[in-house]
Amino acid sequence: MTALRAVILGAAAGGGLPQWNCGCTNCAAARRGEIPAQSQSSVAISADGDGWAILNASPDIGRQLFATPALHPTGPRDVPIRSVVLTNGDIDHVAGLLTLREKQPFTLWATPDIVGVIAANPVFDALDRELVPRHSVRLGDAFEPAPGLEARLFAVPGKVPLYLEGPEAEVMTDLEGEQTVGVELRAGSRRALYIPGCARMTPALRGRLEGADLVFFDGTLWRDDEMIRLGLGRKTGARMGHMSMDGEAGSIAAFRDIRVGRKVFVHMNNTNPVLDPRSAERRAAEAAGWIVGQDGMEIVT
Ligand code: MLT
Ligand code: MN
Ligand code: ZN
Repeated sequence: MTALRAVILGAAAGGGLPQWNCGCTNCAAARRGEIPAQSQSSVAISADGDGWAILNASPDIGRQLFATPALHPTGPRDVPIRSVVLTNGDIDHVAGLLTLREKQPFTLWATPDIVGVIAANPVFDALDRELVPRHSVRLGDAFEPAPGLEARLFAVPGKVPLYLEGPEAEVMTDLEGEQTVGVELRAGSRRALYIPGCARMTPALRGRLEGADLVFFDGTLWRDDEMIRLGLGRKTGARMGHMSMDGEAGSIAAFRDIRVGRKVFVHMNNTNPVLDPRSAERRAAEAAGWIVGQDGMEIVT
């Protein structure tokens, strides 16, 4: 029977755990080896175990591929990576493309808007367009990012990349269009959803989530004002386009009455207490039926 195989290449949000300039409790504990380090946001997915799609290319992709034998070359220039699918233009999701520039064919899939962001930055021309075609795919249209895998992109509430935000007063954090998308993946009868960034739950998203076998979901923050309380920034999760885990409007509450097979948090910011396996918040997330994603975690459904 066809299965969906997923490997979390990186479970952390932008910056990773530890983040180079951060001395927060989690980052310090990760440096001391007391809690596991996590690299930046990416998942690999396959239907046949031979050909893989990479969902978001993180700045850590070099060591993520090194750590994942299923993605190693099988010959002088034969890699099992067929494509990279982008869910937005954020640096933690696109910078890894520059690491994949060594004359290696694969296909890049993203919405016209995100392909436009890549096209507008000449540094990405380091990826030879003959070898790495950029395929714009419209919301809802089916494509095949790896053999036997059917994918569709769908809009979720979010915003444009940080570096394209413009004046603070004009920043829209709840756009629903081609800027921030989720990926729906099907193999045979199995269905998975990958949503590493989402500003809030909507009726449409709820409907799409219902009945999925596997969901990877935005786990950026535990609480909306976490970074402010820790004195590490001025932004709330809402301002960054991320719904938090805890609270009435949080993801744990939102998923309570949605029927999904397995639900896995990814894209966790290094301040998120669930990254510490000893924390009360980790226990609470797990008690609510969540798996807290980890680098290298493999899930077959
Ligand atoms: C985010 O997920 O909000 C962005 O990746 C932030 C960033 O670009 O650092
Ligand atoms: Mn991010
Ligand atoms: Zn930190």
